[in-house]
This record gives sequence, structure tokens and C-alpha cells, in this order.
Amino acid sequence: MEYSTLLTALDNGIFIITINRPDKLNALNKDVFTELNNVLDEVASNNDIKSVIITGSGAKAFVAGADISEFGGLDKQAAMALARRGQDVFFKIENSTKPIVAAVNGFALGGGCELAMACHFRLCSDNAKFGQPEVNLGLIPGYGGTQRLTHLIGKGKSMELQMTAQMIDASEALRLGLVNYVTTSDTLLERTKEILATIQTKAPVAIGKVIECVNVAVVNDNNDKNGYETEIKSFGECCDTEDMKEGTAAFLEKRKANFKGR
Ligand code: COA
Repeated sequence: MEYSTLLTALDNGIFIITINRPDKLNALNKDVFTELNNVLDEVASNNDIKSVIITGSGAKAFVAGADISEFGGLDKQAAMALARRGQDVFFKIENSTKPIVAAVNGFALGGGCELAMACHFRLCSDNAKFGQPEVNLGLIPGYGGTQRLTHLIGKGKSMELQMTAQMIDASEALRLGLVNYVTTSDTLLERTKEILATIQTKAPVAIGKVIECVNVAVVNDNNDKNGYETEIKSFGECCDTEDMKEGTAAFLEKRKANFKGR
């Protein structure tokens, strides 16, 4: 499919989605949200897509936030609808059964940090900067940031970053556990692809179940579920797959498993 605010490319099953508004530091406007929603449908329905990288266009920014130019004249109801719409798209990322990883290549501020946090995990380049600067605008995060930042880095640091609006650099993001790895700008996509290539050798149904169970461990839209029960059910469902029979047989026969995703 063609998009006006996103670039997409498929490389060995890895689908790279690049937010492409570099002159606005890839700020998330309505069009980006509409297209992100659509591209996530493409991810779910296209069997050639095994995993996803989300990144930003240009050397400077991943995403510098929600598009502030769309905030003028918002009343309470419209603002709530905007936040809900953003949250829904980000839940779709979080709950994707195919792995979605953020490759943060510069500023990840406000909605950009929230987008990265909705992904299953994050890598960043050494020039990356993270922050939730909404209080500078008289706002708070609205796309899940108050929740996900707290889950990822803990209450005290989450409070501090949101209240001070301070940006943190890549090494601090690594120290806090916001990102898993820091790379150079040149090697960010390659390193992310390497990790996804490893994941793509594993049983896809099992990978989807890992995502589902881990998501239940933190409060999200699944928060009425019990994580341990979800794990039991998912474990059972994995045992019902051809891939589980293949994986266990391959181990016993001392050969590499050939997973089919069913
Ligand atoms: N929404 C809309 N436009 C944005 C934007 C955003 N969140 N972030 C950057 N832009 C635009 C700028 O308005 C500018 O557009 P222009 O060239 O038409 O004037 C362009 O992107 C480049 O940004 P600029 O501010 O000139 O770059 P900089 O290097 O001086 O500063 C930042 C970079 C990231 C520090 C700065 O752009 C910034 O603070 N952005 C807003 C971050 C924010 O508050 N995000 C949370 C939103 S809820």
C-alpha cells in the first residue's frame, strides 16, 4: 500500500515503517495517525511481514511529538477524542502479535516517546533524546505516556521526567531501561534487524503468546485479565500447534527447527 506520511519497505520479512515528515521532525498529525492505523492492518494481514521496525526519517528525529499545530482550538471533548484515538492506535502496536520494535534515531519527545514506548522494545542511536515535555505546553502526555513511562522506568523517575519536562540522552535511557541497546546512527537499523532476524527463527505463534502474556503483566487495555491464567491458556494453545511438535522434535533429533507459524 502507498502512504503519504510513511515510507515502508520489506526486507527478509522485516517491515520497516519510517514516519516521513522530516521538515516537521516527523511530528504526529492526524494523517500520520490514520496511516499508522492502516499500516498496522497491513502488518496484521500480510503474511510476508514477520516483524516490524518503526523509525523516523532524517538524521535528527524519531518523532518530536504530536503535531502541536493541531492543538489550537481544541475543547475538552475534542482533546479527549484526540487522546483516545492516539491511545487506540498505540494499543494496536502494543497488542500486535508480530514483534514491533522502535529504532529511535534522534528526538523522541512527547507522542514520539509514547510511540516508542508502545513498541515491544526499543533500541536507539547515540544522538537520541527522550522526554515528555507536555507540561511546557500546559498539557500532559495523552497517548499512554503517563502509564507506559511509569511501567518502564518506575514511578519516581517517571514523575520527575514528566514534571520537569527534561530530556534524557541515550546513555541515561539505557541506564533507566527505556531502551535495550544504544548504537551509532549508522548501525541502528542493522542492529535492530539482527535482533528481529533472531526472533524470526522462532515459532511465530509462541512469539505472539509471549507478547500477549507480557502485556497482561502491565496494566493496559487487557487489565481485566489475570497474567498467570493468561500464561496457562497461552501455554496450552502453544502445545496445540504444529510448531511446538516441530520444535520439540527438532531438539530431540539434534537439528534446526523449521517453523511454519501454525
Ligand atoms: N509539532 C509540530 N511541529 C514541530 C514539532 C511538533 N511537535 N516539533 C518540531 N516541529 C517543527 C518546528 O515547528 C519546525 O517547523 P518550521 O521549520 O516550519 O518552523 C521544524 O519542526 C523544525 O523544528 P525546530 O524547532 O526548528 O528544530 P530545533 O532543532 O530548533 O529543535 C526540538 C528541536 C525537538 C527541541 C523542538 O522542535 C521542539 O521542542 N519540538 C517540540 C517538542 C514537544 O514539545 N513535543 C511534545 C508535543 S506534545
